[in-house]
Amino acid sequence: MFGLFRCAQPLLGKFQNCRNNSRGLKVTVVGAVGGIGQPLSLLLKLNPHIESLALHDLQSTDGVVMDLSHIDTPATACPFEGGDGKSLRKAMLMADIVVIPAGLPRKPGMNRTDLINVNASVAAEVALAASEVCPGAFLAFITNPINIIVPLAATILKAKCNYDPNRLFGVTTLDVVRAKTFVGDFLNVNPSKVDLPVIGGHTGKTILPILSQCKPAYTGTDEERTELIKHIQEAGTDVVNAKKGDGSATLSMAYAASRFVNSLVKAIKGSDEPIVECAYVESDVTEAEFFSTPLVLGPQGIKENLGLPDMDDNETQALEEMLPELKKNIENGIKLGKDFTGQD
Ligand code: LMR
Repeated sequence: MFGLFRCAQPLLGKFQNCRNNSRGLKVTVVGAVGGIGQPLSLLLKLNPHIESLALHDLQSTDGVVMDLSHIDTPATACPFEGGDGKSLRKAMLMADIVVIPAGLPRKPGMNRTDLINVNASVAAEVALAASEVCPGAFLAFITNPINIIVPLAATILKAKCNYDPNRLFGVTTLDVVRAKTFVGDFLNVNPSKVDLPVIGGHTGKTILPILSQCKPAYTGTDEERTELIKHIQEAGTDVVNAKKGDGSATLSMAYAASRFVNSLVKAIKGSDEPIVECAYVESDVTEAEFFSTPLVLGPQGIKENLGLPDMDDNETQALEEMLPELKKNIENGIKLGKDFTGQD
């Protein structure tokens, strides 16, 4: 359907050794040398189901790959570097999953939206490359602003007739990880035993943790609840401020993204257990065309969108309040995507 072999064959020969011929999984990390890319690549190297890891960045991938290659796990890492688009295509060639932490991080005083001018072209390049050399791959964007980047990428993939809404994700797992951690701290329970959905988008009030559905039950006062929600929504900014100009969350983001990619790997491999993750995807559960809700993942990507969880009155109101901002972000992303592909 996607013309995979027609697109991929011209580049095949030279890089065959970086692509498992036994149909093991190939994962490409775009932005592999950066603050998120390195720990993410390390965590993915530990997944025994990943056979081939292609690490792309503008420079210095050789060293990272050599370093990783001393780790005694089966995945083979291969370096690809350069900003010319050719090396990116080689890295992404026939990938099953492409995860993208590439892009500029925030500095104190910036919103995620302020990054769009620089990061839009990074996402556009990846979407264009994907449509040529790995149509059908799962694309997982970490690049901010996620709320805008994912609709932008979708618009480009659509223009190239290679869009499958079940395979394009904005990684919002860190919001869930933070919510579990902060609720666990508050309730004095192991955070890994806490479960709650976080819906919406990935900035400020578009991040909506659904505390009413928390397991174990959240027991704080209304005032404590308001504070906790704000803490989850502003956690990324807290890291940016604490790093004092040295970027944004890298280690926790790498952890969260590896969790998401590992879930995609399990989904592709097939699993008896349902694999459920929240992610920002094309959606019809609200008026916003892209929205994060819990998704059941399978070999073809999204198997089922579980939709909005039950919500109390405060959460319903918070959802209403976030929608105008989210819709504006999405409009912006679609417009930028059209600009990149020369559409009116
Ligand atoms: C985060 O949530 O930590 C990331 O989106 C990075 C940022 O700029 O906050």
